[in-house]
Amino acid sequence: MQNIESNNPFNGKSGHIIISKRELNPLVTEITVIAPEIAEKAQAGQFVILRIDEEGERIPLTLFEWSYQKGSAGTITLIFQHLGVSTKKLAALNVGDEILNVAGPLGNPSCIQNYGVVGVVCGGVGTAAAFPIAKALKAAGNKVVCILGARNKDLLILEDEMRGVSDELFISTDDGSKGQKGFVSDVLRSLIEKKYMFGIVYAIGPVPMMRVIAEVTRPFGIKTIVSLNPIMVDGMGMCGACRVTVGGTTKFACIDGPEFDAHETDFQELMGRLKEYPSEERSALAFREKGEGATCACKNH
Ligand code: FAD
Ligand code: FES
Ligand code: MG
Repeated sequence: MQNIESNNPFNGKSGHIIISKRELNPLVTEITVIAPEIAEKAQAGQFVILRIDEEGERIPLTLFEWSYQKGSAGTITLIFQHLGVSTKKLAALNVGDEILNVAGPLGNPSCIQNYGVVGVVCGGVGTAAAFPIAKALKAAGNKVVCILGARNKDLLILEDEMRGVSDELFISTDDGSKGQKGFVSDVLRSLIEKKYMFGIVYAIGPVPMMRVIAEVTRPFGIKTIVSLNPIMVDGMGMCGACRVTVGGTTKFACIDGPEFDAHETDFQELMGRLKEYPSEERSALAFREKGEGATCACKNH
């Protein structure tokens, strides 16, 4: 019988080894990592929190794909944008390298039902989080209408993958270099005006994008779900870092979410909380890039 060790091409190491790596664009990387316990339980909408090495901070990333067969080395695939220290460090790892800890699956799975026509609106790297949801919605018998957006054509990701799980796919770029010139919200508004009868809309992307989508669907009473991305630390409801206000009540995105009703979400507060540590993030990055000569605001270096 095959087991994880005999099936593992990197025998001799244990843990979460990167078995494939692909650049989706200069700012976005996909990695597939050995993680059978997570792959066995993963569902659309869930995420992991990983720590690259002993000095690493904990960062959440959405499960893009997973593969598990009893007795084989289950894998998970993650897609991430290189933003700061941790994501740049992750992007610098190669096939065969190991990630110290990967905890998950975390968060509640998406509520997958037959809603009829579903709009899946994705911006930038949010497309990676939207893909498994669109795939599950399609498998549940929905008509999936996907709207994919980015600043320009070079930053669009996963077009083929999204096309494969969509009945219709629309593209918009801010500069008009591909698809319709403008924003995903413009495309959604025009589809609603053309009488697309959306039973639900999922919007996943930058917070300002999700906020605008909420305002597009609100007057039409179309139920709209957003996947929120506040700063997370433990991912288990204990630290309070990920608190968001939804319907006037404090929620912890890691255990109550990450998906919430867009019409009830306080996006202004979320945007403020995401920008709480810019000087620490900048100096940590400068420390990583310049090395020993720079000072790090975390005071540990
Ligand atoms: P930093 O320079 O430290 O931070 C850059 C910005 O990222 C910060 O201003 C802040 O807004 C945000 N951020 C920083 N630390 C955290 C943290 N611990 N938790 C959340 N946000 C943080 N990004 C992807 O590219 N792909 C994904 O699939 C993805 N899925 C996510 C799922 C969830 C549930 C959440 C909450 C976030 C997700 N993110 C995803 C965002 C990702 O976690 C951050 O981009 C990453 O933590 C930035 O770390 P950094 O050290 O590289 O950048
Ligand atoms: Fe700590 Fe959610 S990340 S409570
Ligand atoms: Mg960081």
